[in-house]
Amino acid sequence: MPCTVITGGFWGDEGKGKIISYLALEDQLAICVRTGSVNAAHTVWFKGKRYALHMVPAAFVNENCRLLIGTGANIDVAQFLEEVEETNVKNRIGIDYQASVIEEKHSVQDKTNVHLKGIVGTTGRGVGPAIEERVRRSAKLAKDIRELQPYLANVAEEVNNAIDKGEKVLLEGTQGLMLSLFHGTYPYVTGRDTSASAICSEAGVGPTKINDVLIVFKAFMTRVGNGPLPGELLKEEAIKRRWFEIAAGTGRERRSAPFNFEIAKKAVSVNGATQAAVTKLDILYPQCKSVRNYNELPEKAKQFIDEIEKQTRVPVVFIGTGPAAMDVIDRRE
Ligand code: IMP
Ligand code: MG
Repeated sequence: MPCTVITGGFWGDEGKGKIISYLALEDQLAICVRTGSVNAAHTVWFKGKRYALHMVPAAFVNENCRLLIGTGANIDVAQFLEEVEETNVKNRIGIDYQASVIEEKHSVQDKTNVHLKGIVGTTGRGVGPAIEERVRRSAKLAKDIRELQPYLANVAEEVNNAIDKGEKVLLEGTQGLMLSLFHGTYPYVTGRDTSASAICSEAGVGPTKINDVLIVFKAFMTRVGNGPLPGELLKEEAIKRRWFEIAAGTGRERRSAPFNFEIAKKAVSVNGATQAAVTKLDILYPQCKSVRNYNELPEKAKQFIDEIEKQTRVPVVFIGTGPAAMDVIDRRE
Protein backbone atom coordinates (compact mmCIF):
# COMPACT_ATOMS: atom_id res chain seq x y z
CA MET A 1 0.00 0.00 0.00
CA PRO A 2 -0.89 2.82 -0.93
CA CYS A 3 -0.81 1.31 -4.45
CA THR A 4 -0.67 -2.47 -4.74
CA VAL A 5 -0.94 -4.65 -7.83
CA ILE A 6 -2.43 -8.09 -7.32
CA THR A 7 -1.41 -10.72 -9.82
CA GLY A 8 -1.77 -14.48 -10.35
CA GLY A 9 1.25 -16.77 -10.06
CA PHE A 10 -0.02 -19.85 -11.92
CA TRP A 11 -2.88 -20.34 -14.43
CA GLY A 12 -5.50 -18.15 -12.80
CA ASP A 13 -7.99 -19.33 -10.18
CA GLU A 14 -5.42 -18.89 -7.43
CA GLY A 15 -7.95 -17.13 -5.21
CA LYS A 16 -7.23 -13.50 -6.08
CA GLY A 17 -10.91 -12.59 -5.55
CA LYS A 18 -10.82 -13.88 -2.00
CA ILE A 19 -7.61 -12.00 -1.10
CA ILE A 20 -8.95 -8.79 -2.69
CA SER A 21 -12.18 -9.04 -0.71
CA TYR A 22 -10.13 -9.42 2.47
CA LEU A 23 -8.00 -6.35 1.66
CA ALA A 24 -11.07 -4.33 0.72
CA LEU A 25 -12.49 -4.86 4.19
CA GLU A 26 -9.35 -5.02 6.32
CA ASP A 27 -7.38 -2.18 4.69
CA GLN A 28 -10.37 0.04 3.82
CA LEU A 29 -9.38 0.36 0.16
CA ALA A 30 -10.35 3.66 -1.46
CA ILE A 31 -10.26 2.39 -5.05
CA CYS A 32 -10.07 -0.99 -6.76
CA VAL A 33 -9.45 -1.16 -10.52
CA ARG A 34 -10.38 -4.30 -12.43
CA THR A 35 -8.38 -5.12 -15.54
CA GLY A 36 -8.79 -7.90 -18.12
CA SER A 37 -12.16 -9.22 -19.10
CA VAL A 38 -15.06 -11.64 -18.73
CA ASN A 39 -13.05 -14.79 -19.44
CA ALA A 40 -11.92 -14.50 -15.82
CA ALA A 41 -14.26 -15.06 -12.88
CA HIS A 42 -13.19 -13.92 -9.42
CA THR A 43 -14.97 -15.77 -6.66
CA VAL A 44 -15.94 -13.88 -3.52
CA TRP A 45 -17.84 -15.32 -0.56
CA PHE A 46 -19.50 -12.54 1.37
CA LYS A 47 -22.21 -12.71 4.02
CA GLY A 48 -22.84 -16.34 3.16
CA LYS A 49 -23.36 -15.68 -0.56
CA ARG A 50 -21.06 -16.70 -3.39
CA TYR A 51 -20.32 -14.23 -6.19
CA ALA A 52 -18.49 -15.18 -9.43
CA LEU A 53 -17.49 -11.77 -10.75
CA HIS A 54 -16.55 -11.35 -14.40
CA MET A 55 -16.64 -7.55 -14.51
CA VAL A 56 -17.23 -5.93 -11.12
CA PRO A 57 -14.06 -5.54 -9.01
CA ALA A 58 -13.83 -8.04 -6.14
CA ALA A 59 -13.49 -5.17 -3.63
CA PHE A 60 -17.23 -4.45 -3.94
CA VAL A 61 -17.66 -5.96 -0.46
CA ASN A 62 -16.51 -2.66 1.04
CA GLU A 63 -19.33 -0.16 0.50
CA ASN A 64 -16.97 2.80 0.63
CA CYS A 65 -14.67 1.52 -2.09
CA ARG A 66 -14.82 3.20 -5.52
CA LEU A 67 -14.86 0.50 -8.21
CA LEU A 68 -13.31 1.11 -11.61
CA ILE A 69 -12.70 -0.84 -14.81
CA GLY A 70 -9.55 0.22 -16.63
CA THR A 71 -9.07 1.38 -20.19
CA GLY A 72 -7.30 -1.86 -21.10
CA ALA A 73 -10.36 -3.94 -20.21
CA ASN A 74 -12.93 -5.40 -22.61
CA ILE A 75 -16.52 -4.87 -21.52
CA ASP A 76 -19.33 -7.38 -21.92
CA VAL A 77 -22.18 -4.90 -21.54
CA ALA A 78 -24.93 -7.36 -20.53
CA GLN A 79 -22.66 -9.09 -18.01
CA PHE A 80 -21.59 -5.75 -16.56
CA LEU A 81 -25.15 -4.51 -16.09
CA GLU A 82 -26.23 -7.81 -14.54
CA GLU A 83 -23.39 -7.80 -12.01
CA VAL A 84 -23.92 -4.14 -11.13
CA GLU A 85 -27.48 -5.09 -10.24
CA GLU A 86 -26.43 -8.21 -8.30
CA THR A 87 -23.80 -6.40 -6.23
CA ASN A 88 -25.77 -3.16 -5.93
CA VAL A 89 -22.86 -0.90 -6.85
CA LYS A 90 -24.56 1.40 -9.37
CA ASN A 91 -23.54 4.57 -7.55
CA ARG A 92 -19.87 3.77 -7.12
CA ILE A 93 -18.69 1.95 -10.23
CA GLY A 94 -17.05 3.50 -13.29
CA ILE A 95 -15.75 2.26 -16.65
CA ASP A 96 -13.02 4.03 -18.53
CA TYR A 97 -14.60 5.76 -21.52
CA GLN A 98 -12.01 4.17 -23.78
CA ALA A 99 -12.32 0.55 -22.60
CA SER A 100 -13.38 -1.59 -25.57
CA VAL A 101 -16.57 -3.57 -25.91
CA ILE A 102 -17.13 -7.26 -26.67
CA GLU A 103 -19.80 -7.71 -29.32
CA GLU A 104 -22.00 -10.73 -29.96
CA LYS A 105 -19.99 -11.63 -33.07
CA HIS A 106 -16.80 -11.91 -30.96
CA SER A 107 -18.12 -14.71 -28.79
CA VAL A 108 -19.48 -16.47 -31.88
CA GLN A 109 -15.99 -16.24 -33.40
CA ASP A 110 -14.43 -17.54 -30.18
CA LYS A 111 -16.82 -20.51 -29.98
CA THR A 112 -16.63 -21.53 -33.65
CA ASN A 113 -12.92 -21.04 -34.37
CA VAL A 114 -11.31 -24.49 -34.44
CA HIS A 115 -7.91 -23.25 -33.31
CA LEU A 116 -9.20 -21.10 -30.45
CA LYS A 117 -11.95 -23.37 -29.16
CA GLY A 118 -10.61 -26.78 -30.13
CA ILE A 119 -6.87 -26.42 -29.63
CA VAL A 120 -6.33 -23.56 -27.18
CA GLY A 121 -9.59 -24.29 -25.33
CA THR A 122 -10.81 -20.71 -24.85
CA THR A 123 -13.59 -19.80 -22.48
CA GLY A 124 -15.64 -18.78 -25.55
CA ARG A 125 -16.47 -15.37 -24.09
CA GLY A 126 -15.19 -13.50 -27.15
CA VAL A 127 -12.30 -11.80 -25.43
CA GLY A 128 -9.55 -12.75 -27.90
CA PRO A 129 -11.60 -11.70 -30.97
CA ALA A 130 -12.58 -8.43 -29.22
CA ILE A 131 -8.90 -7.69 -28.62
CA GLU A 132 -8.19 -8.46 -32.30
CA GLU A 133 -10.87 -5.96 -33.27
CA ARG A 134 -9.30 -3.35 -31.04
CA VAL A 135 -5.89 -3.92 -32.60
CA ARG A 136 -7.49 -3.41 -36.03
CA ARG A 137 -8.66 0.01 -34.73
CA SER A 138 -12.30 -0.79 -35.46
CA ALA A 139 -13.59 -1.65 -31.97
CA LYS A 140 -16.61 -0.06 -30.30
CA LEU A 141 -15.59 1.73 -27.11
CA ALA A 142 -17.47 2.15 -23.85
CA LYS A 143 -18.18 5.79 -24.72
CA ASP A 144 -20.09 4.66 -27.85
CA ILE A 145 -22.58 2.55 -25.86
CA ARG A 146 -25.80 4.15 -24.64
CA GLU A 147 -26.30 1.90 -21.59
CA LEU A 148 -22.80 2.66 -20.35
CA GLN A 149 -23.13 6.47 -20.37
CA PRO A 150 -23.93 6.74 -16.62
CA TYR A 151 -20.76 4.84 -15.77
CA LEU A 152 -18.13 6.56 -17.93
CA ALA A 153 -15.00 7.69 -16.10
CA ASN A 154 -11.43 8.75 -16.71
CA VAL A 155 -9.86 5.90 -14.78
CA ALA A 156 -6.18 6.81 -15.16
CA GLU A 157 -6.86 10.34 -13.95
CA GLU A 158 -8.97 9.23 -10.97
CA VAL A 159 -6.51 6.57 -9.89
CA ASN A 160 -3.41 8.72 -10.22
CA ASN A 161 -5.06 11.55 -8.27
CA ALA A 162 -5.96 9.10 -5.51
CA ILE A 163 -2.43 7.69 -5.39
CA ASP A 164 -0.98 11.21 -5.23
CA LYS A 165 -3.24 11.93 -2.26
CA GLY A 166 -1.93 8.80 -0.50
CA GLU A 167 -5.19 6.88 -0.75
CA LYS A 168 -5.17 3.08 -0.78
CA VAL A 169 -5.51 1.75 -4.31
CA LEU A 170 -5.54 -1.82 -5.55
CA LEU A 171 -5.03 -2.83 -9.18
CA GLU A 172 -6.81 -6.15 -9.72
CA GLY A 173 -5.14 -8.44 -12.25
CA THR A 174 -6.83 -11.47 -13.77
CA GLN A 175 -5.64 -14.98 -14.67
CA GLY A 176 -2.01 -15.88 -14.00
CA LEU A 177 1.45 -15.50 -15.45
CA MET A 178 1.36 -18.90 -17.15
CA LEU A 179 -1.64 -17.73 -19.22
CA SER A 180 0.18 -14.58 -20.35
CA LEU A 181 0.37 -14.02 -24.10
CA PHE A 182 4.05 -13.10 -23.61
CA HIS A 183 5.27 -15.13 -20.64
CA GLY A 184 2.93 -18.13 -20.55
CA THR A 185 2.72 -21.50 -22.30
CA TYR A 186 2.03 -20.12 -25.81
CA PRO A 187 -0.17 -20.88 -27.73
CA TYR A 188 -2.14 -22.21 -24.75
CA VAL A 189 -2.59 -18.74 -23.30
CA THR A 190 -5.08 -15.92 -23.16
CA GLY A 191 -5.11 -12.98 -25.56
CA ARG A 192 -3.16 -10.50 -23.45
CA ASP A 193 -0.25 -10.14 -21.09
CA THR A 194 -1.29 -10.90 -17.52
CA SER A 195 1.86 -9.73 -15.71
CA ALA A 196 1.97 -6.93 -13.12
CA SER A 197 3.38 -4.48 -15.67
CA ALA A 198 0.46 -5.14 -18.01
CA ILE A 199 -2.03 -4.68 -15.18
CA CYS A 200 -0.51 -1.24 -14.47
CA SER A 201 -0.64 -0.38 -18.14
CA GLU A 202 -4.31 -1.40 -18.46
CA ALA A 203 -5.19 0.80 -15.49
CA GLY A 204 -3.02 3.72 -16.59
CA VAL A 205 -0.63 3.73 -13.64
CA GLY A 206 3.13 4.06 -14.17
CA PRO A 207 5.62 1.65 -12.55
CA THR A 208 7.07 4.31 -10.22
CA LYS A 209 3.66 4.62 -8.51
CA ILE A 210 3.51 1.00 -7.39
CA ASN A 211 4.45 0.21 -3.78
CA ASP A 212 3.80 -3.52 -3.75
CA VAL A 213 3.22 -6.35 -6.17
CA LEU A 214 1.27 -9.06 -4.38
CA ILE A 215 1.44 -12.41 -6.15
CA VAL A 216 -1.23 -14.97 -5.35
CA PHE A 217 -0.50 -18.69 -5.38
CA LYS A 218 -2.83 -21.52 -4.53
CA ALA A 219 -1.41 -24.31 -2.32
CA PHE A 220 -1.68 -26.57 -5.39
CA MET A 221 -1.98 -25.68 -9.08
CA THR A 222 -5.02 -25.95 -11.36
CA ARG A 223 -5.57 -25.31 -15.03
CA VAL A 224 -8.67 -25.15 -17.25
CA GLY A 225 -8.38 -25.44 -21.01
CA ASN A 226 -5.53 -27.11 -22.83
CA GLY A 227 -1.75 -26.88 -22.53
CA PRO A 228 0.98 -28.29 -20.32
CA LEU A 229 0.55 -28.72 -16.57
CA PRO A 230 3.72 -30.12 -14.95
CA GLY A 231 3.00 -32.89 -12.44
CA GLU A 232 -0.65 -33.23 -13.53
CA LEU A 233 -2.65 -35.69 -11.43
CA LEU A 234 -5.20 -38.18 -12.69
CA LYS A 235 -8.74 -37.02 -11.97
CA GLU A 236 -9.31 -39.82 -9.40
CA GLU A 237 -6.20 -38.77 -7.48
CA ALA A 238 -7.25 -35.11 -7.62
CA ILE A 239 -10.66 -36.03 -6.18
CA LYS A 240 -9.03 -38.10 -3.44
CA ARG A 241 -6.86 -35.13 -2.44
CA ARG A 242 -9.85 -32.74 -2.63
CA TRP A 243 -8.00 -30.69 -5.29
CA PHE A 244 -10.59 -31.32 -7.99
CA GLU A 245 -12.38 -28.07 -8.88
CA ILE A 246 -15.02 -26.88 -11.32
CA ALA A 247 -14.43 -23.48 -12.95
CA ALA A 248 -16.42 -20.61 -11.42
CA GLY A 249 -16.88 -18.96 -14.82
CA THR A 250 -17.52 -21.73 -17.32
CA GLY A 251 -18.40 -24.81 -15.26
CA ARG A 252 -15.50 -26.68 -16.85
CA GLU A 253 -13.42 -29.19 -14.88
CA ARG A 254 -10.05 -27.96 -13.70
CA ARG A 255 -6.97 -30.16 -14.01
CA SER A 256 -4.65 -30.13 -11.00
CA ALA A 257 -1.03 -30.64 -9.96
CA PRO A 258 1.18 -30.08 -6.92
CA PHE A 259 2.66 -26.62 -6.22
CA ASN A 260 5.59 -26.08 -8.59
CA PHE A 261 8.48 -24.08 -7.18
CA GLU A 262 10.17 -23.44 -10.54
CA ILE A 263 7.01 -21.85 -11.94
CA ALA A 264 6.52 -19.89 -8.73
CA LYS A 265 10.08 -18.53 -8.95
CA LYS A 266 9.59 -17.45 -12.56
CA ALA A 267 6.27 -15.79 -11.71
CA VAL A 268 7.82 -13.88 -8.80
CA SER A 269 10.66 -12.75 -11.03
CA VAL A 270 8.66 -11.58 -14.06
CA ASN A 271 6.06 -9.86 -11.88
CA GLY A 272 8.64 -8.25 -9.61
CA ALA A 273 6.60 -9.51 -6.68
CA THR A 274 7.34 -8.03 -3.26
CA GLN A 275 4.78 -10.09 -1.32
CA ALA A 276 2.96 -13.39 -1.78
CA ALA A 277 -0.33 -14.89 -0.71
CA VAL A 278 -0.96 -18.65 -0.54
CA THR A 279 -4.61 -19.68 -0.65
CA LYS A 280 -6.43 -22.92 0.18
CA LEU A 281 -3.88 -24.08 2.71
CA ASP A 282 -6.84 -25.76 4.47
CA ILE A 283 -7.28 -28.04 1.46
CA LEU A 284 -3.72 -29.32 1.83
CA TYR A 285 -3.90 -29.44 5.64
CA PRO A 286 -7.53 -29.63 6.88
CA GLN A 287 -6.46 -28.69 10.44
CA CYS A 288 -5.83 -25.17 9.08
CA LYS A 289 -9.52 -24.54 8.36
CA SER A 290 -10.51 -20.97 9.33
CA VAL A 291 -7.35 -20.48 11.41
CA ARG A 292 -6.40 -16.80 11.65
CA ASN A 293 -3.26 -17.04 13.77
CA TYR A 294 -0.06 -18.35 12.19
CA ASN A 295 1.09 -20.01 15.40
CA GLU A 296 -1.96 -22.26 15.37
CA LEU A 297 -1.00 -23.87 12.06
CA PRO A 298 0.24 -27.47 12.14
CA GLU A 299 4.01 -27.86 11.76
CA LYS A 300 3.75 -29.34 8.24
CA ALA A 301 1.76 -26.37 6.99
CA LYS A 302 4.32 -23.96 8.43
CA GLN A 303 7.13 -25.90 6.74
CA PHE A 304 5.34 -25.61 3.40
CA ILE A 305 5.01 -21.83 3.79
CA ASP A 306 8.69 -21.60 4.86
CA GLU A 307 9.72 -23.54 1.77
CA ILE A 308 7.78 -21.18 -0.51
CA GLU A 309 9.46 -18.17 1.13
CA LYS A 310 12.90 -19.77 0.94
CA GLN A 311 12.63 -20.68 -2.72
CA THR A 312 10.83 -17.59 -4.06
CA ARG A 313 12.49 -15.11 -1.67
CA VAL A 314 9.31 -13.18 -1.05
CA PRO A 315 7.44 -13.09 2.26
CA VAL A 316 4.12 -14.95 2.36
CA VAL A 317 2.07 -12.23 4.03
CA PHE A 318 -1.40 -13.71 3.54
CA ILE A 319 -2.51 -17.31 3.96
CA GLY A 320 -6.01 -18.38 2.94
CA THR A 321 -7.61 -20.89 5.29
CA GLY A 322 -11.20 -20.98 4.00
CA PRO A 323 -13.49 -19.45 1.38
CA ALA A 324 -14.93 -16.51 3.35
CA ALA A 325 -13.33 -13.08 2.92
CA MET A 326 -11.99 -13.04 6.49
CA ASP A 327 -10.56 -16.61 6.49
CA VAL A 328 -7.04 -15.19 6.24
CA ILE A 329 -3.88 -15.26 8.31
CA ASP A 330 -2.42 -11.76 7.96
CA ARG A 331 1.31 -11.78 8.70
CA ARG A 332 2.06 -8.16 7.86
CA GLU A 333 3.83 -6.18 10.57
P1 IMP B 1 -9.52 -17.16 -23.52
O1 IMP B 1 -8.83 -16.20 -22.60
O2 IMP B 1 -10.99 -17.26 -23.30
O3 IMP B 1 -9.14 -16.91 -24.96
O4 IMP B 1 -8.94 -18.61 -23.18
C1 IMP B 1 -7.57 -18.96 -23.42
C2 IMP B 1 -7.05 -19.90 -22.34
O5 IMP B 1 -6.99 -19.23 -21.09
C3 IMP B 1 -7.93 -21.14 -22.08
O6 IMP B 1 -7.10 -22.21 -21.69
C4 IMP B 1 -8.79 -20.70 -20.90
O7 IMP B 1 -9.26 -21.80 -20.16
C5 IMP B 1 -7.78 -19.90 -20.11
N1 IMP B 1 -8.39 -18.87 -19.25
C6 IMP B 1 -8.86 -17.66 -19.64
N2 IMP B 1 -9.31 -16.97 -18.57
C7 IMP B 1 -9.11 -17.76 -17.50
C8 IMP B 1 -9.34 -17.58 -16.09
O8 IMP B 1 -9.82 -16.57 -15.61
N3 IMP B 1 -9.01 -18.64 -15.29
C9 IMP B 1 -8.45 -19.74 -15.78
N4 IMP B 1 -8.21 -19.95 -17.06
C10 IMP B 1 -8.53 -18.96 -17.92
MG1 MG C 1 -11.28 -17.71 -11.83
